Amino acid sequence: MLSGEYGWAVAKAMEILVRVGEAVGADSLIEVVHAHVAGVSFSTIGKHGLELIGEFYKAGGRARVFTTINPGCIDYSGFSRLIDNAYESEQRLIDAALEGMGFRPVHTCVPYYYRPPSPGEHLAWSESSAVIIANSVYGARTNREGGLLALAASLTGYTYRAGLHLDENRVARVLLKIDPEIRPGYYGALGLWIGESIRKAPLVTGAPKTMDYVLRNMLAAAAASGNHALVALEGVTPPRTFKAEIEERVFVEKGDIEKYVFNPPKSTSSEILGYLGCPHMLPEDLLYVVKLLRKYGPVKRGKLLLTVPREFITKYSALVREAAALGADIAAGTCPVVSTPRRKFDYIITSSGKSYFYLSKIHRTRVGIASDEEVVKYVCGVYG
Ligand code: F3S
Repeated sequence: MLSGEYGWAVAKAMEILVRVGEAVGADSLIEVVHAHVAGVSFSTIGKHGLELIGEFYKAGGRARVFTTINPGCIDYSGFSRLIDNAYESEQRLIDAALEGMGFRPVHTCVPYYYRPPSPGEHLAWSESSAVIIANSVYGARTNREGGLLALAASLTGYTYRAGLHLDENRVARVLLKIDPEIRPGYYGALGLWIGESIRKAPLVTGAPKTMDYVLRNMLAAAAASGNHALVALEGVTPPRTFKAEIEERVFVEKGDIEKYVFNPPKSTSSEILGYLGCPHMLPEDLLYVVKLLRKYGPVKRGKLLLTVPREFITKYSALVREAAALGADIAAGTCPVVSTPRRKFDYIITSSGKSYFYLSKIHRTRVGIASDEEVVKYVCGVYG
């Protein structure tokens, strides 16, 4: 592959993997079964990114393993009034090249919904929220790859053998006990605190033992505000996929997360947006929000944004239609972090710790964390 026998695209992809592998001290390559490629939104990669992806496609690059892709910068349903589709033609060019290479056009950050990994499987994923879920919930093995590295892994079927592919690096060193006073609806805030406060991989005790939005939300936030790619969860992370060598014990109290929590603004003229779906909603998450809207809605148009995988618009069309009829704005295959919102809001209220982190930094908007139920109640005007 490296010598060019399989063409320019494969040779270039292999060169990237070999160079990075050498830089991080990898002794060999390892086969992967699933690549997930982030960095496919025109808003974030711009025209140079578009050209590079186009070059790989035109040079014959094709997926050698199951490959999925992250959200783009447009709402693929075409109905959202909150996401701007200004870069539609550029995004479609990127999408055409990615599809031409055989990547599944799922446009979502929840690749485990399409192919749940098995414990011990080697992956090359480049979406930090998905990476931490793959390692911590499924017990699979992937580093936090850059988008180009995941693309290179797809075209070759390999990645470099280092980091979390090796047992010796899958070690939890901090025992983290969670205050039962922290309600699951606030685990987005808890994840932000973990990312900011804990440097080594933790083993978390006292968290709910289910793979649901609460845990995904917490892990995604820890990956965003910190550098985490593995947070072992007692009773959830498959036991033989990590070791615990505890050096430090930490108790996280309710007061530690207060700074992230939503405080209703005093001014009644403030423009406030409710946002749910970061990481993208799974079908059960969407159903839950629709139930909340049935109970507290309808919501005024333009006040509540929900983001879902691209195919949900057709696959779960009844739920999507109902949410829209109850006033929600649904954007498919994108999110406000990788796209350009049409309007600026004074404040965003969300359960998502990851969107708290990025929206406050990128869009310089005030953001506060509340549970899904409180977000829906607030935008429906029945809060408190
Ligand atoms: Fe997904 Fe966008 Fe959040 S890509 S994890 S919804 S920032």
